[in-house]
Amino acid sequence: MNPLFQVSQFYIPPGFIDLGLGDPQLSLLPFDLLRTAAEERFKQREIEFLQYGTEQGDGTFRQSLAAFLTHAYLLPVEADSLFITNGASMGLHLICTLFTRPGDTIFVEEPTYFLALRIFTDHELQVVPIRTDENGLVIENLEEKLAEYNPKFLYFIPTFQNPTGHTLPAGRRKKLLRVSRQHDFLLVADEVYHCLSYSGEVPRPFAADAKSGNVISLGSFSKILAPGLRLGWIQTDEKIMQRLVTSGLLDSGGGMNPFTSAIVRQVLENGGLDQNIAKLKAIYSQRVSIMDDVLLQHIPQAEYSVPKGGYFFWIHLPNTINTMELRRKAEDFKIGFRPGALFSCQKGMQDYIRLSFVFYEPDQLEQGILRLKRSLENFEY
Ligand SMILES: Cc1ncc(COP(=O)(O)O)c(C=O)c1O
Repeated sequence: MNPLFQVSQFYIPPGFIDLGLGDPQLSLLPFDLLRTAAEERFKQREIEFLQYGTEQGDGTFRQSLAAFLTHAYLLPVEADSLFITNGASMGLHLICTLFTRPGDTIFVEEPTYFLALRIFTDHELQVVPIRTDENGLVIENLEEKLAEYNPKFLYFIPTFQNPTGHTLPAGRRKKLLRVSRQHDFLLVADEVYHCLSYSGEVPRPFAADAKSGNVISLGSFSKILAPGLRLGWIQTDEKIMQRLVTSGLLDSGGGMNPFTSAIVRQVLENGGLDQNIAKLKAIYSQRVSIMDDVLLQHIPQAEYSVPKGGYFFWIHLPNTINTMELRRKAEDFKIGFRPGALFSCQKGMQDYIRLSFVFYEPDQLEQGILRLKRSLENFEY
């Protein structure tokens, strides 16, 4: 492999199993699907996709994406409500740029996606945590914090949350919409795992309320196709859209990623995305049950709810364990995980760990859990 194209997983030392890693396994990335789509697209000899793109993102691509989402969300999605991004991270960065100033307050779930916290740090935002339980955000705690703070937005992951895997039920979604309107703050719903459900029904996405004036839904191809595409979308209302498309970034550089959009449009039109999602769901749901079985068998002190979708197990270990310290010990056993404190903006969650099942085959998952068991046996707490 060309060393210039190394990706994060290649920094894992040989023989080490890093169950903290949230990157999909290389063999699950749809190389042939994208190669065929690119060949078909190039054969058509429409060269517009090599030009600067329209600010909102290529119209034909947005139409294909809208058709896919209409079917995936089971509700009508219009191409006009979609804005193409370089992925959810870039979407979030743009939202911070346009809707906040340094020192502004924003709310996040406790725990939350740790790399979103990095984006908020870059924007010098004051981050206030809102408590969560098995059903996601605790609305009463949100209301308590609203008595004290005036946030610009709430950033949250309503479905198959990172790191907890929890999903906000429909009742709480309704309340959250009501409270956000009453208190006039934006809801930035990161819905990147919405399409990766392994059992049961998923509540309506916040994208369904994109027209309500204060909702921004973030979507991405990273989890359902390939992160290297750097392609995603924002779904929102006309007024917010207007602010997005008139940003200086787009004025200078044009719409995001017209080249990749043209290739992914071909994947959408070929039905390749549906196929890929079906394949990922079958593989990941099998890994969830294997991981659950081996955890039950080898680490009976682990407390968790089995994820119904997404990428992660969020595991509570006995309170006296500091998982940052455990991680250092675990390195001796060649096993990695993400300690809970990473996902807390107040250095809490020290007795939790996040494990992912997307990067490794079942036998390596089992091996990894055995190594974790050994690290726990050799850790004094
Ligand atoms: C909740 C969440 N949002 C966003 C991202 C990053 O998405 P993207 O690759 O589209 O920037 C991730 C990736 O781990 C994630 O878990």
